[in-house]
Amino acid sequence: MNQPLPAGVCGVRILGTGSMVPERRLTNDDFSRMLDTSDEWITQRTGIKERRVLDLRTQGCSTLAQGALERAIENAGIKAEDLDLVIVATVTMEMTCPSVACRIAGAVGAKNAAAFDLVAACSGFVYALNMAETMVRVGRARTVAVIGSEAMSSILDYTDRTVSILFGDAAGCAIIQADADPTKGCIYQHMGADGIGGHALYIPKRETDVPADDADNPIRLGYLRMNGKEVFRFAVTKFKEVMEDAFAKTGLTPNDVSQVICHQSNVRIIDAAREKLGIDPAKIYVNIDRYGNSSAGSVPLCLDELWRAGKITKGKPFMMVAFGGGLTWASSVWST
Ligand code: COA
Repeated sequence: MNQPLPAGVCGVRILGTGSMVPERRLTNDDFSRMLDTSDEWITQRTGIKERRVLDLRTQGCSTLAQGALERAIENAGIKAEDLDLVIVATVTMEMTCPSVACRIAGAVGAKNAAAFDLVAACSGFVYALNMAETMVRVGRARTVAVIGSEAMSSILDYTDRTVSILFGDAAGCAIIQADADPTKGCIYQHMGADGIGGHALYIPKRETDVPADDADNPIRLGYLRMNGKEVFRFAVTKFKEVMEDAFAKTGLTPNDVSQVICHQSNVRIIDAAREKLGIDPAKIYVNIDRYGNSSAGSVPLCLDELWRAGKITKGKPFMMVAFGGGLTWASSVWST
């Protein structure tokens, strides 16, 4: 971030997107051979049929983040040196230092970019995009790569059927840039957190991180622990609230938007919110059947698939909504 930038409020546009998932598929039938579960149970309770998993001996969060970034750079038609900021939203970085963002910025040759990781679990990409958009809008940055990337398989206890069946590995990236038209970009954003509820979904490192009321949870230290029912209740309520808030504050109705991109947590959670708000199913993209819940990777993976399919149409706003560990939640409404 070493170039002089014009001060003042400008517009922001998405220049291009990219995504990457591992080649290896883990199907519900694979799980039923490993654990006491079935394709029927998983499909009915979650809508998931398969998810992708990395080969953790040689790959990790950075592998996917870099792949998504490279594809987005190509799609945006820019050079890596044009980037002045790279943000990676993740909870599954190989190392906290150096960050995934520093490693992949270095690997692709983004030598003019500042780089850092952001932790907001499944809300991470929407948090990061909101921050990046604000920096571009006020002239603190011109071209920014925002990535959500997760190697969820590195924090799953595959002996526990209640958690491991839900998640998969994936990354997505959006490259945004300053635009002369100030009406373009994020027209509304909201971010929230509830640290008191954080133990519904968490990754303890030490025994002391585990509260007494979760001591019987069989999942080991270093792995994702979850109270499924509590998260389900939180998610259904929060999803609806966050979407209602975004529609009310922008004055938009579900008819006015081209797409509502929801974090892919569970198809029942998405359907509950969609039904309560009366949103046309064609406007809520679902790919959880193919990828499971890829945490911060989920929203940008959907965005990339929709972007490349021409579903993010010019002149029509679209909305992104996520919730997750922390607990956290976020929305971002864009005018295109
Ligand atoms: N296969 C078969 N049975 C399973 C199972 C599996 N993979 N996982 C749990 N079960 C069993 C339970 O042990 C329980 O058995 P019991 O009745 O004998 O005790 C039964 O199925 C019902 O479990 P329950 O936890 O009540 O199921 P559920 O309907 O609440 O569905 C989730 C479980 C995890 C799918 C659901 O709670 C959920 O989606 N929660 C939100 C998770 C989420 O989105 N997390 C990420 C947020 S970003």
